[in-house]
Amino acid sequence: MSRTRKIVILVLTLLLGAAIGREVYAQVRLQQLMIAKLQHAQKLLEGIALGKFDKIESSALELTRISRTAEWLAQKAPRYEMFSNEFTQAAETIAKKAKEKNVDGVTLAYFDLTKSCVRCHQHMREVRDARGPGVQAELASAR
Ligand code: HEC
Repeated sequence: MSRTRKIVILVLTLLLGAAIGREVYAQVRLQQLMIAKLQHAQKLLEGIALGKFDKIESSALELTRISRTAEWLAQKAPRYEMFSNEFTQAAETIAKKAKEKNVDGVTLAYFDLTKSCVRCHQHMREVRDARGPGVQAELASAR
């Protein structure tokens, strides 16, 4: 094998490795975000049940922050963005109502937030059923 050919193969292998690494990293980051999201949603419910407005506000703000991260927003499918917006808006409303110590307002917005969880996951499952296994189908179609 010529030297040039060896170099070409080496470069291609490195590029492929970098691309795979990037993909795996993005997936791991997304997974971590999803777990953090669940934890803050649980803290939120705890705060609501106990009427602890500072706890409600901080969890809601944390959820808003998560929904604005690059990894969360990396998914460009229009319906995903719609559910994502619903999620962010609900979390913002919760924080606002918590600041006003309005427990009914918090509870209503919490319901909207939960609806957005269910609807986005339902959407992800539908996409997966239609295009074969893995969230990657949705992600790939979105790129
Ligand atoms: C805009 C879309 C969207 C919204 C809204 C959303 N999720 Fe998710 N969620 C995802 C995606 C994407 C995944 C990971 C991909 C998959 O389905 O495998 C996921 C995965 C999860 C997982 C599984 C994590 C794991 O270990 O694999 C949990 C738990 C979860 N979400 C909880 C929630 C909760 C709780 C809410 C609402 C407070 C919520 N999600 C709202 C998109 C969303």
